[in-house]
Amino acid sequence: MDRRSQHRVQWVYSSQTNSELSQRYDEWAEDYDKDLSDVFGWIAPNAASEYLAKYVEPEAIVLDAGAGTGLVGVALLKHGFNNLTAMDLSEGMLKEARNKNVYQKFDQMVLGEHLDYLTDTFDAVISVGVMTLGHAGPESLDELIRITKPRGYIVFTIRTDVYTQNGFKEKQEELELKNIWEKIEVSDRFRPMPSGEPDVFHCVWVYRVRD
Ligand SMILES: C[S@@+](CC[C@H](N)C(=O)[O-])C[C@H]1O[C@@H](n2cnc3c(N)ncnc32)[C@H](O)[C@@H]1O
Repeated sequence: MDRRSQHRVQWVYSSQTNSELSQRYDEWAEDYDKDLSDVFGWIAPNAASEYLAKYVEPEAIVLDAGAGTGLVGVALLKHGFNNLTAMDLSEGMLKEARNKNVYQKFDQMVLGEHLDYLTDTFDAVISVGVMTLGHAGPESLDELIRITKPRGYIVFTIRTDVYTQNGFKEKQEELELKNIWEKIEVSDRFRPMPSGEPDVFHCVWVYRVRD
């Protein structure tokens, strides 16, 4: 195991503020794909994209929230999606995403804050590896729902420990109870980084926004 790569993952998890997190991702951006693919065996972009493709037509207008260097965009392109917006808090990560030539639009914004999109803008939202330690919290979901059209889909991965310990479980259940969205499917837990962090598990969650 490459210790420097392992260290970088712990380093971003331990960020105390969004500006620290953004700076750390800016610094990591150029090496991110190599570390995640070669060292960690990062499979979450493919896994989540399969779920989006199961429910959403490829012509859909899709937001990739926390797009990073664009690995989800690359995975979605294989399913024929070609109307993709990449949003992330790190300019450095978005710069790498631009080089992939799979997104039509790029926006630097912060999940958890107001998002500068009109209500009901997107047919679907996907977010992979962002609901994790030291990253976006459960309050981010309100804005993702606001900018998704009625009957649109929101697909995201969450670390299983973060789901139970950081308020996601309560938030997701509350949104269901209030009839704001409905749960369509949740995957079995899987190892998103089988070779780098074999003790970490994620699930993919699929919700549909209510009319
Ligand atoms: C582990 S990476 C995942 C990137 C990409 N989705 C993937 O699957 O490779 C997490 C990304 O989320 C972004 N991020 C973290 N917290 C965020 C927030 N509150 N708002 C927007 N982006 C955020 C980081 O800048 C980083 O690019």
